[in-house]
Amino acid sequence: MNLLIAGCGDLGTELGLLAAAAGHRVHGLRRSPELLPEPIVGLPGDLTRPLAGLPSDTDLLVYAAAPGERTPAAYRETYVDGPERVLSALDVAGARVERVLFVASTAVYGVADGSWVDETTPTEPTSTTGPLLVEAERRLWGRRPDAISLRLAGVYGPGRTRLVDQVREGRAVIPEPPVHTNRMHRDDAARAILHLLTSVDEPATCYLGVDDDPADRGEVLRFLADELGVPHPPTGPDQRSRGGDKRCRNDRLRGTGFTLEYPTYREGYRAILAGRGVRHP
Ligand SMILES: NC(=O)c1ccc[n+]([C@@H]2O[C@H](COP(=O)([O-])OP(=O)(O)OC[C@H]3O[C@@H](n4cnc5c(N)ncnc54)[C@H](OP(=O)(O)O)[C@@H]3O)[C@@H](O)[C@H]2O)c1
Repeated sequence: MNLLIAGCGDLGTELGLLAAAAGHRVHGLRRSPELLPEPIVGLPGDLTRPLAGLPSDTDLLVYAAAPGERTPAAYRETYVDGPERVLSALDVAGARVERVLFVASTAVYGVADGSWVDETTPTEPTSTTGPLLVEAERRLWGRRPDAISLRLAGVYGPGRTRLVDQVREGRAVIPEPPVHTNRMHRDDAARAILHLLTSVDEPATCYLGVDDDPADRGEVLRFLADELGVPHPPTGPDQRSRGGDKRCRNDRLRGTGFTLEYPTYREGYRAILAGRGVRHP
């Protein structure tokens, strides 16, 4: 199959390498295509401007761009308008795209009382950018009713050391009252995308991309402190500016036969602390 990854950064590159190893031909579109490793074929393109010259033999499209800043205007350009530009350019090229997957976010949910969330939970975001993510999905489904939206929780993985650094440097605070946090290791996110594109006969139009453990943030911080051999962080008011307090279920994704390499933060962070993998530029 011929896979086009629009917005081919860390997650996209990991997906591209995985797909190429499985025998697919992969194009990666971004403004700096020279950063992409072989065998991903780099395509120069800016998703905020009209696009041309996309491969006419594209079978599978993944949209995995991330905006440069967390503003409603940047979110609109990247998430709402960007996918339409890619689909229009593929139409012009004469491509007959079989499957479209949009990398979305659990930020579409505004839940903040620690309750469970799944694909049927109403999308009522409370952040300023969340409504743009909801609009992005609606617009995409308006054009491609069969498009798959994979709503990822916080992506962590090689080189993403913000939380580890906070604990190591004594800057972390265990929230009081406690909050649940949800995450997905980058490698599992890439594996889930390839799985939904190529191994599921009739995929649903929406999946939560989270691991098995919507853990208490304090538990994660204490685990990291123990692994690093530093004192447990003190407790205090929640330092995070977003994320709410929700527990995301992955039953629908798991129901497709998908298995996680990093089912919880423990396996994932141990691999990161052991230096396994690299963050792609
Ligand atoms: N990080 C998280 O916790 C999280 C959570 C939920 C969902 N997600 C989603 O996961 C996806 C992948 O994230 P990631 O970690 O792989 O991000 P990343 O490493 O920053 O990659 C994003 C890529 O998008 C490209 N891009 C951005 N603006 C572009 C534009 N105007 N035209 C063309 N390409 C553009 C960038 O390349 P150039 O600069 O070369 O153009 C970059 O390679 C994103 O959709 C993100 O929103 C992330």
